Amino acid sequence: MDIARTPSTADGNPEMADAAHEPHAPVTIRRADYTPPAWLVPEIALHFDLGAGATTVRSELKVVRNPEAERTGNIRLNGDEIEPKSVLRNGAPCESWTMDGNDLLVSIDGEEALISITTELAPDTNSKLMGLYASNGMLCTQCEAEGFRRITFFPDRPDVLSTYTVRMEGDATTFPVLLSNGNKTGEGELEGGRHWAEWHDPWPKPSYLFALVAGDLVALEDSFTTMSGRTIDLAIWVREADLGRTQHAMDSLKKSMKWDEETFGREYDLDVFNIVAVGDFNMGAMENKGLNIFNTKYVLADPETATDGDYDGVEGVIAHEYFHNWSGNRVTCRDWFQLSLKEGFTVLRDQLFSQDMQGEAVKRIEDVRVLRAVQFPEDSGPLAHPIRPDSYQEISNFYTSTVYNKGAEVLRMMRSMAGEERFRKGTDLYFDRHDGEAATCEDFVRAIEEGADLDLKQFRRWYEQAGTPRVSAALKDGELRLTQEVPATPGQPDKQPMVIPLRVALFDRDTGKSSGERLVVLDRAEASFKFEDAPADAVLSINRGFTSPISLDVERAAGDLLFLAANDDDPFARYEALQELVIEHLLAEAGAEGAVHNDAADLAALGEAFGAILDDDALDDQMRGEMLLLPPVAYLCEQVLVADPVALHKAREGLKAWLGGELRERFEALHARASAVPYSLERKARGARKVKTQALAYLAAADAAAAAPRAKAQFDAADNMTDRQGALMVLAGLDRPERKAALADFHERFAGNDLAIDKWFALQAGSLHPDVIEHVKDLAGHADFRLTNPNRVRSLYMAFAANKHGFHAESGEGYRLVADLILQLDPINPQTAARFVAPLGRWRRMAEPHGTMMREQLERIAAADGLSRDTYEQVSRSLG
Ligand code: PHE
Ligand code: ZN
Repeated sequence: MDIARTPSTADGNPEMADAAHEPHAPVTIRRADYTPPAWLVPEIALHFDLGAGATTVRSELKVVRNPEAERTGNIRLNGDEIEPKSVLRNGAPCESWTMDGNDLLVSIDGEEALISITTELAPDTNSKLMGLYASNGMLCTQCEAEGFRRITFFPDRPDVLSTYTVRMEGDATTFPVLLSNGNKTGEGELEGGRHWAEWHDPWPKPSYLFALVAGDLVALEDSFTTMSGRTIDLAIWVREADLGRTQHAMDSLKKSMKWDEETFGREYDLDVFNIVAVGDFNMGAMENKGLNIFNTKYVLADPETATDGDYDGVEGVIAHEYFHNWSGNRVTCRDWFQLSLKEGFTVLRDQLFSQDMQGEAVKRIEDVRVLRAVQFPEDSGPLAHPIRPDSYQEISNFYTSTVYNKGAEVLRMMRSMAGEERFRKGTDLYFDRHDGEAATCEDFVRAIEEGADLDLKQFRRWYEQAGTPRVSAALKDGELRLTQEVPATPGQPDKQPMVIPLRVALFDRDTGKSSGERLVVLDRAEASFKFEDAPADAVLSINRGFTSPISLDVERAAGDLLFLAANDDDPFARYEALQELVIEHLLAEAGAEGAVHNDAADLAALGEAFGAILDDDALDDQMRGEMLLLPPVAYLCEQVLVADPVALHKAREGLKAWLGGELRERFEALHARASAVPYSLERKARGARKVKTQALAYLAAADAAAAAPRAKAQFDAADNMTDRQGALMVLAGLDRPERKAALADFHERFAGNDLAIDKWFALQAGSLHPDVIEHVKDLAGHADFRLTNPNRVRSLYMAFAANKHGFHAESGEGYRLVADLILQLDPINPQTAARFVAPLGRWRRMAEPHGTMMREQLERIAAADGLSRDTYEQVSRSLG
């Protein structure tokens, strides 16, 4: 029996007694309550009679008693918004079934049974995009985490692994292509213009990895020969009009397959690998066994419609989903609390892959920027949770930056301590030992401990404790003193010291040289490390390469950061030093508590440091572009207990304007030099495009009137989306005549191209324009806006929620707009609606009147009737 979800669990929990009186009666699922499934389903056969309006599903489950679980007379089969049309047991109609809430209970006397259930679905009204749904005339599925129960009744939990046989039939004209997991084992014509196909997946898998696609699709086909010499047929399925934009995805897939063989020793294990692109998708993509389903955003790319960033996104997500075939599918998760087992590991794998493809330093900086702008705020707010959460109400809410990105950082720390080779021994042992199993985070840690010969006893706290540790460092006479503190987070008031590895180097102030790097591991509240070879009065470079996901407070002498920004031989550390300088300056400008007042000399020094970045011929443009990017306001807000987002935003824009004026000639020269580089996907040309738009943004901040024609010229001359979007981004923020013309041109040029039109929405919603709120309101009424399409919703409202000067407008109108969206979207697509709660959830950390206005909107949402479990959980945590 699925103890974790039975009402008795909730009844036994004193906290639930009160909640049960509320309309939502949320059930809290706890990690500690895990029990093994009472029944296993070694085999399942599914028969689909497909139609967009009505689809009939008949399942045949071979169920056997789990000898390792408590005996029960019933099998619990989860359901969600479905009804059993018929239930057969061992071939005969079964009368003794009951419903327990959404779940179907079927009694079984012996040790095994054959259960057959019929359900009926209406894919074209399934706006939640979970289960079987329609998108642009095709049918597709999304089952992670709990979507399979919207298709048929099943023990819908990842520790029940089955081999699947899937037969689909439907109209041959509407659904010429019929795909499912594994290999195709048969197909044929039927009467009345219908046809069928059957697929079989030999690898036992949990239900969340089931997938089906039916539609009028075409494929880019290719093949890959594995390290053992097997040939795999590869196909990327899209609508016909998109076929010309699939080559980059295919190239990325082949590179990923090769890289996983070389780097982790992992070979692909089926004869075919299919990828399908769909326009309506809640997330980025899904690793269904042998049949990955992707958001079009992470498949389609050509120079005209995709930016360099989009190209990287496709490469990274293709790799991520492909890598899941081992870290996720061959070894899956025992329960959803273990989500980081597959996600943290797979993110680390895709990051390492992209580092190898794109260059290590730039990729590392980008990953850390995302971590700090998204995960750090999560970890310091009401939604903070450990990478292995202890409880949830709706698991969809835990597909978070903490589980994914911090999860990857935790594994990266293990790798830093073990070294690459020993870490690989650990992962080899993990894959070997748990192949075919549903494993836990603990299983992973134990495999690394044994395989890599590493003691991770105390390190396990990274799985248990939420919050970003704060480390203070001071170097004196060759002695490095470190202290750490892990802040309190919801439900975790007291914390134990973490194991914090830090790569450290000391620099000689006179020669600018370091005496080499070493790894120190801080595992107590306080510790000292003696550097025998330290030069007198050395400059400290610490947490190089961002060894640990912490925040740092370093006691520094004046000039240290400028020194490191100019001399550090770790590119990340050099970047970091400049960021620190900028942060110090901006906090002071914004009048943040405790910040040291700026003087003219500080500003001049910053100007020189940026000037040096512009002049440094040894830097390539990719890295130059990273160094020129000012820290995001979201990360600036993290530096203080209570932030004034508007003041920080203004300070940041002010610095941009000052630098743009101060370094005007050099930015103009940079823009001209970069504009002369012809389009290609080579690193050099990509770097040029990156600094080109940055130069434009600095110039525009300093002098809008002079920059607008330059931006319009870049827009008009663009032969690629990177330049065009960059120019439009700048123009969208300017109150200049060129703005309107460029926006109209872009919209007309890309009419009908959903991904490009998404950009058009996002650029306006994220713009620096003073009237951005009015623009967003107008755009919500635009003929191209659709609440049913998550990409479109995100392009308008996520861009807006991230736009500090719009979202945090003094009127409170920004908060109201986002709350309105949540209320409107919740009944349509709760999973996507709930994602918009987090920006409002920051209220406790925002200066007045912002904090109160944000809280009021959360309260307004909380008071609404019939809220989804998704949104209810996020709102109540945010207010709690
Ligand atoms: N498992 C997917 C990934 O990380 C993400 C996902 C989760 C997609 C839930 C859809 C639904 O690649
Ligand atoms: Zn993933």
